[in-house]
Amino acid sequence: MQHLPVMREEVLSVFAPLQISTFIDGTLGAGGHAKALLTNHPEIERYIGFDQDASALSIAQKELEAFGDRVLFINDNFSKLGSHLESMGIHHVDGFFLILEFHQCS
Ligand SMILES: C[S@@+](CC[C@H](N)C(=O)[O-])C[C@H]1O[C@@H](n2cnc3c(N)ncnc32)[C@H](O)[C@@H]1O
Repeated sequence: MQHLPVMREEVLSVFAPLQISTFIDGTLGAGGHAKALLTNHPEIERYIGFDQDASALSIAQKELEAFGDRVLFINDNFSKLGSHLESMGIHHVDGFFLILEFHQCS
């Protein structure tokens, strides 16, 4: 089944004017937004995707296989972003993105 990420067009339009080298996706999920951004921004050299859920990350790894080593997968909470970037020697990013789910209780 094809995965359609929420607000795909809105996300693409926010980043459309930018030249992106390094991008952080704090909530990689099934990788739908990542696939859209990597396809629309062939200039992205490093797309760093975080997800705290290992099963979501393994779905994303399959979904994003075609993008090879342009994508780095990190199984951790995005709150640890700073220490991961430091350990990779990354001091600058061009874009950052989070999409969380909200549940309405009635
Ligand atoms: C709505 S999904 C993201 C959709 C995704 N962008 C896509 O295209 O499929 C939210 C994801 O964020 C992850 N997540 C939620 N809070 C997180 C956190 N603090 N750190 C890392 N991942 C988190 C969840 O495990 C879930 O896979």
